[in-house]
Amino acid sequence: MNVVDIIAAKRDGHELSSEQIGWLINGAMEGSVADYQLSAWLMAVVLKGMSDRETADLTRSLVASGKRLDLSSLGGFVGDKHSTGGVGDKTTLVVAPLVAAAGVPMGKMSGRGLGYSGGTIDKLESIPGMQCSLTVDQFIEGVRNVGLVVAAQTPDLAPADGILYKMRDVTATVDSLPLIASSIMSKKIAAGANGVVLDVKVGSGAFMKTPDQARALAISMRDIGRGVGLLVRAVLSDMDQPLGWAVGNNLEVHEAVQTLRGEGPADLLEVALVIGGNLLEMAGKANSVEAGQDILRETLRSGAGLEKLREFVMNQGGDPSFIDDPHALPSAPVQRDLVARTSGWIAHIDAEAIGRASVEIGAGRRVKSDAIDHRVGFVLNAKIGDHVETGSKLATIHTSSDQAASQVEPAILNAFTISATPVAIPPVIMEVIA
Ligand code: URA
Repeated sequence: MNVVDIIAAKRDGHELSSEQIGWLINGAMEGSVADYQLSAWLMAVVLKGMSDRETADLTRSLVASGKRLDLSSLGGFVGDKHSTGGVGDKTTLVVAPLVAAAGVPMGKMSGRGLGYSGGTIDKLESIPGMQCSLTVDQFIEGVRNVGLVVAAQTPDLAPADGILYKMRDVTATVDSLPLIASSIMSKKIAAGANGVVLDVKVGSGAFMKTPDQARALAISMRDIGRGVGLLVRAVLSDMDQPLGWAVGNNLEVHEAVQTLRGEGPADLLEVALVIGGNLLEMAGKANSVEAGQDILRETLRSGAGLEKLREFVMNQGGDPSFIDDPHALPSAPVQRDLVARTSGWIAHIDAEAIGRASVEIGAGRRVKSDAIDHRVGFVLNAKIGDHVETGSKLATIHTSSDQAASQVEPAILNAFTISATPVAIPPVIMEVIA
């Protein structure tokens, strides 16, 4: 087989055979397919798409590049969740401790930032000492002993997804239904959970811009899951503005703690409760999703969720001081407030523009080798539907220098559209696909 022929076949819109897909992914693992060939192939997939059969084959090859965990020795339901990617999406840091504290173990593989969207692993690694590159034994022990583990791709777990993911991050090859579906489902299948709730983001800050695209992605992932006996449910949630207030790694970790203290933004809590309620119902811990949400509200109120976050961080080597001391995580030296230039109601917040600006100031990567500045990002002061007066604060920019703040200031200001007439608060949950 020849890699150039495979790239050309996809470029010309042909369906690849299972053998070609398997051979290409093997080559990426062994290094016999070069980075530039892989990125040419990824771009051909973005432009020409893949059939359902090719997407399932790609998923299978990504899983087969590592081990598939068998968690049956744990003797019960293990849950998982995954977001398709958004801006300010720190839902895992809220829902996973709440669900684990409610008695449903969570074993999860997450990703790093991808394109303009943030990644759970980058957020977790902004906690000093936190280790997400775990061995299979560490993963299983974490689920057994703490009831919560979050791991990155490793040489053991979906390593080929790690290779493709890093490449897609910096080659404009993220927004592709088959690449997203196979990337997510390979991690979910490799990590061995029994049931997963997929948070499929829709809107300006999501890779799927319309509900129809998001629904198609949800159905593709559900069908891949069904094919291997994994229970899958999908929640379509709004990403037409960043989720919550904070965008940027340390800032988002801080917001997750605020939320687990009962002081967080309403939209973030709602997404977490809907995902968590579904997980509790799938696990048989609650008779309905609503009953599951009631259990989680109690877990939040009692502080058990926050304590589970502490236990989880310590188990993965992290320093949990940030849970009690909001100043324990490093903060950016420059913090600049941006104010409204007119009064009115916030009608739109361009989440993609905010995500792109966050990468520009160092919260994400422009090339594979970029180091992340965990301190930088944005904190929004107003969300869609809020009324603002001229001069009232819209957002604070957190950067490493004045120059970086000035560079992104226009983009952040322009991300806000202010209307002269009242604007309704959009629903955050759009649909649940079982
Ligand atoms: N999350 C993933 O793990 N992969 C994608 O492609 C998008 C979101």
